[in-house]
Amino acid sequence: MKKIAVFISGTGTNMQSIVKACEDRIIDGAEVSLVLASKPSAKGLSYAKDKGIATEVYLYGDKDNGQISKELIEIMESHSIDLIALAGYVKVLPEEFTKRFDGRIVNIHPSLIPLFCGKGYYGVRVHEEVLASGMKVSGATVHYVDSGVDTGRIIAQDSCPILEGDTPETLQKRVLKIEHRIFPEAISRLVKTI
Ligand code: GRF
Repeated sequence: MKKIAVFISGTGTNMQSIVKACEDRIIDGAEVSLVLASKPSAKGLSYAKDKGIATEVYLYGDKDNGQISKELIEIMESHSIDLIALAGYVKVLPEEFTKRFDGRIVNIHPSLIPLFCGKGYYGVRVHEEVLASGMKVSGATVHYVDSGVDTGRIIAQDSCPILEGDTPETLQKRVLKIEHRIFPEAISRLVKTI
């Protein structure tokens, strides 16, 4: 059984979709063994606890990248983690850490990368910018994580229309539906290769 760690900062609906996909064996041969949050108030932590999944809160504080990498690697090793899924994790991971898990860290982003991504593009802000641009489609992207922000190789994408009268919130909801489908699907394929 491969062990997945899901990193979150907020509600964790993508994390829940991964947990569920493991339970339903859409992701076959793997389980979510750890949910790591960047802050204690991350709502998704209570879902993980209710499911009996181990949780960790890891605070960057004023630690330098070397210390952050070392401590995060130790946490991953103590849970024998094979694959890391960033699901709404707002912290940037240091290069030493991403290199250590090269090809085994993936992220979900709520736009069609390379559009509307990079530093500062998270949460509802992404959808505000998409609507302001006049685009007629948006979507979600699963990609490998490297030391940049949203710069790793793309694994999967799907798109949805932008409708007349959309608000950032209605678009966010439509995109989130795509995320909940393509992220577990991508992880399921990846699990077979690692
Ligand atoms: C999602 O839109 C994801 O693409 C982005 O952050 C949001 C997290 O939502 N990276 P949730 O916490 O999974 O509900």
